[in-house]
Amino acid sequence: MSTDILERYLSWRRGRDGDPFRVRMPALGPVLFTGTPEGAREFFRAPVDLLEPPLPNPIEPMVGAASLILARDGRHRRERALLAPALHRNRISAYGNAIREAARAELSGERTGDPWRPGTRIDARAAARALTLRVILAAVFGIDDAARRAEYTTVTQEFLESFGSTLFMVPALRRKLFGLSGWERFSTARDRLDELIDAEVARRRADGGGGADLLALMLDTRYEDGSAITDTDLREQLRTLLVAGHETTATALVWALYRLHREPEALARLRAEVAAAGSDPGPAELMALPYLDAVCQETLRLHPPVPIVLRRLTGDLTLRGVPLSAGDTMGISMHLLHTDPAVWPQPRRFRPERFLERRYSPFEFAPFGGGHRRCVGAALADYELRIVLATVLTDVRLRLSPRFAHGPAPMSVPHTITVGPRSAITFDVAGF
Ligand code: HEM
Repeated sequence: MSTDILERYLSWRRGRDGDPFRVRMPALGPVLFTGTPEGAREFFRAPVDLLEPPLPNPIEPMVGAASLILARDGRHRRERALLAPALHRNRISAYGNAIREAARAELSGERTGDPWRPGTRIDARAAARALTLRVILAAVFGIDDAARRAEYTTVTQEFLESFGSTLFMVPALRRKLFGLSGWERFSTARDRLDELIDAEVARRRADGGGGADLLALMLDTRYEDGSAITDTDLREQLRTLLVAGHETTATALVWALYRLHREPEALARLRAEVAAAGSDPGPAELMALPYLDAVCQETLRLHPPVPIVLRRLTGDLTLRGVPLSAGDTMGISMHLLHTDPAVWPQPRRFRPERFLERRYSPFEFAPFGGGHRRCVGAALADYELRIVLATVLTDVRLRLSPRFAHGPAPMSVPHTITVGPRSAITFDVAGF
């Protein structure tokens, strides 16, 4: 189902029933939804020991049962303590140059052999996916030589793409069929990726560790009891980072470019701000630019790549006065939260200035979720969005292809863990 339709349905239900309201969701059963800051406050502040992720989760075959996304209780705390330091804001600056290089390599046509020259037509989604994949490979596996990158890229792309929306939505299709089914294609791709990961881990262990990437940090870190992560858990956390960190950020980049090129004043203001930062501002300078920050936030407000956040209860709780008990599921609709007219005047308009005029609480604006499960990659995503946008806008002049320049925004549909534009959004390179 298109998520735009789901969004409209949730809006309509809230208009009819008030907030919170119950909706029966495929595979999940009834979910009590909220989309107000008061509801979000209660949701994100609910006692941690009463919450777990709803299972089964359709992405389990991709990430594995040990994944942080699916873990609960003590196990979630343990795995999160292992991953979070490597993705902490203070460490992320180490990846600034890799992000810049990834953006410039994409613009130079390193991957496609087709540089972003005037007259070229660019599929923003394909470009953004390639770019964010390159960043995540550099940040997670420390891959910086071309041959290894090419190998990882092929295998990871096959892994991510083979788990298409059909396998995601229809678990009954996850079966073998003489080597021909989508499920077998996916399983083979996952095995190939695991082989690469295992070989990398073995190599690192044989070399005695070291390195600034996330894998090196994870190999060095110990749980509270002094033990190290097992190979199976490591493999599943690494796959989790690839799945959670790639398409989410790519989608946000595409929407940012789309919105900016539909709002000439916002685009001009952003260009002027980036130009005033000097001829080649470094990542730290870019991160300090207020309008760039506002553009990225406004994009995530209007197009949250993860539009629904869910928790299943293990005990009694009330959400906005409605009693829930063990086994019940509650959810936040980011679209409702991010378009609440009491908080956001003219909520459907792309107006980055609103983020300069006011500070929003984590219960009014929550594109990365919140509480004990808030996105562990949020700092990396924020960093990547700002640096890539600034680099693209500095290095090339783009124009939305005529089909996208007017009329309603393209529909959003689910892409495994995230939602994004249904079709490719194309731009024409107009100059440098
Ligand atoms: C614009 C980009 C991104 C968006 C909008 C986004 C959004 C989210 C959201 C809404 C959640 C669920 C939070 C909750 O349940 O309260 C989440 C969880 C998660 N994200 Fe992200 N994410 C992004 C990028 C990334 C990146 C770059 C990484 C890793 C490198 C990442 C890794 C994860 C992981 C591992 C979790 C599970 C955390 C847990 O359950 O403790 N995400 N993300």
